[in-house]
Amino acid sequence: MKSGQLRVGVVGATGAVGREMLKTLEQRDFPATQVRALASSRSAGQEVPFRDGQLVVEELNENSFQDMDLALFSAGGSTSEKFAPIAARAGCVVVDNSSAWRMAPEVPLVVPEVNPDDLSWHKGIIANPNCSTIQMVVVLKPLHDAGRIKRVVVSTYQAVSGTGQKAVQELETQIRQMFNMQEPEAAVYPYQIAFNCLPHIDVFLDNDYTKEEMKMVLETQKIMGDETIRLTATAVRVPVFYGHSESVNVETERKISPAEARVIFSQAPGIKVLDNPREKIYPMPIHAAGEDLTFVGRIREDETIANGLNLWIVADNLRKGAALNAVQIAEVLVQRGLIPGADR
Ligand code: A2P
Repeated sequence: MKSGQLRVGVVGATGAVGREMLKTLEQRDFPATQVRALASSRSAGQEVPFRDGQLVVEELNENSFQDMDLALFSAGGSTSEKFAPIAARAGCVVVDNSSAWRMAPEVPLVVPEVNPDDLSWHKGIIANPNCSTIQMVVVLKPLHDAGRIKRVVVSTYQAVSGTGQKAVQELETQIRQMFNMQEPEAAVYPYQIAFNCLPHIDVFLDNDYTKEEMKMVLETQKIMGDETIRLTATAVRVPVFYGHSESVNVETERKISPAEARVIFSQAPGIKVLDNPREKIYPMPIHAAGEDLTFVGRIREDETIANGLNLWIVADNLRKGAALNAVQIAEVLVQRGLIPGADR
């Protein structure tokens, strides 16, 4: 990677994704001369680990971006709504992990394996897609290129870390409470998540889908640059700490056999095929956690239609689904000279 002189900030650095962003910047040796950690007044003064030391957390305010070239945001929608434009006006490029800007027409929504060229028209804010969408489109893109996808039916099995650090603690606490014969206390989710599945992620909309489900529909069309792809989703929260799984049924215009799909996936960027049912080899969250790749397996023909495939897709929601994808976006921005401050 071309070395720059980048001053980088992580907004939401104390959160589940923010911490992973810092770890990812470190692991990938991102060319930053300075890295700052920002969060709310609640955690100002606390320390978060980075490289060999600690960063002291600063309170986010309107002047935070004066001396910053790149900011990775993961501090919730309302923080992004308010502060991303302030950062962009100060000349700081924002990669935003919230849903606040994803569908704004002037904001590119990018998965580097799928649509890196959309970064060229950014105007200061770039959106990182929803975690479930990212891992799905990494796998759908090469299939679409090979046989044009007509329709997708997806059901998700999403880990609690996608909700944030408080949800990780809630699942831990509930498991402990239940093993101690206590009533599990639910605060983050409407019902207990321990030993349960919640078919309810984000808020319900007028059409009775959840916002999470509709994000998958709209974001997929925007990232793939094709509004003709029809997609229907059911998003479910499951008692898994790290790693989202998805059952995906795909109908293509041209018939693609499972054998051809395995070849297509094995040649595509960011994907690892784990598909040997006889040897009990298939992707699972326990193996995907901490990994960068998107895993696909259980590749089968859908025997009920002419050109259909069934897939099982798993990835680490905090890494490829959030922090890693954001850092990969930043890497492409640097490589293509799309961060104004990079060559200061
Ligand atoms: P804080 O720790 O100060 O509350 P998670 O998704 O794991 O819940 O993390 C959310 C992250 O967003 C945390 O780092 C949190 O900081 C940060 N955050 C939440 N609200 C704000 C805000 N108003 N301004 C800045 N950071 C915020």
